Amino acid sequence: MNKVLSSRWTKAFLFLLCLAPLLLLGWRGYHNQLGANPIENITHKTGDWTLRFLLITLAITPIRRLTGKLWLIRYRRMFGLFAFFYATLHFLTYIWLDKFFDVHEMLHDIAKRRFITVGFAGFVLLIPLALTSTKGWILRLGGKRWQALHRLIYFSAIAGVIHYWWLVKADIHKPLEYGAILAVLLGYRIAGWAGPKLSANKAKSLREPRFEVRQG
Ligand code: HEM
Repeated sequence: MNKVLSSRWTKAFLFLLCLAPLLLLGWRGYHNQLGANPIENITHKTGDWTLRFLLITLAITPIRRLTGKLWLIRYRRMFGLFAFFYATLHFLTYIWLDKFFDVHEMLHDIAKRRFITVGFAGFVLLIPLALTSTKGWILRLGGKRWQALHRLIYFSAIAGVIHYWWLVKADIHKPLEYGAILAVLLGYRIAGWAGPKLSANKAKSLREPRFEVRQG
């Protein structure tokens, strides 16, 4: 009972922590502290937090496995949904405050500006993940298919990093940092997949004769 209660409190605390960037933006907006270009500021902050939450979500599995803290899985869905939440705010800032719902101009941007194209792809990839994030959908799709679908998050995060890389004009430090973290997180998975396959192949090759045995 105590465990259930403490896990609920932790979840509530983490939920508020995840909301903090939005609350801070709201606070700054209310006090006119969003700088000379508030729309740009909001776009940058929501974009940054989308990418951060994508990376936090992707970090859960490696941290769980490396530290043995298996209970971390309880929070992965929440982090993933926050990535989608900030991506939606980011997209809304763009389409509402930047483009004033001018769908024609938006479509033109998506087609012509490559950083918008790839950012949009990253956002669209997150939609099926958010829609199928419930237990009901896991049962409906079956664990394996659900897991395969949710691997789309890798491509969304890759699109997010490329999007950032392509939009910066000079200083590529920040996209490089995000890219390096993503490379480690994806590298961990690739090693996990390739490792057993490589050792299975190795075991097979050890069982096979190392030289040709000539008959007669
Ligand atoms: C997974 C989806 C996405 C991620 C992870 C993402 C992430 C980011 C990041 C990290 C930044 C830069 C923040 C900074 O400078 O501190 C950014 C900027 C921006 N993003 Fe996104 N974004 C995504 C989707 C989108 C979409 C769908 C659009 C619009 C269709 C969009 C439009 C923009 C714009 C206009 C900027 C500002 C560009 C500038 O300063 O010149 N992004 N985004």
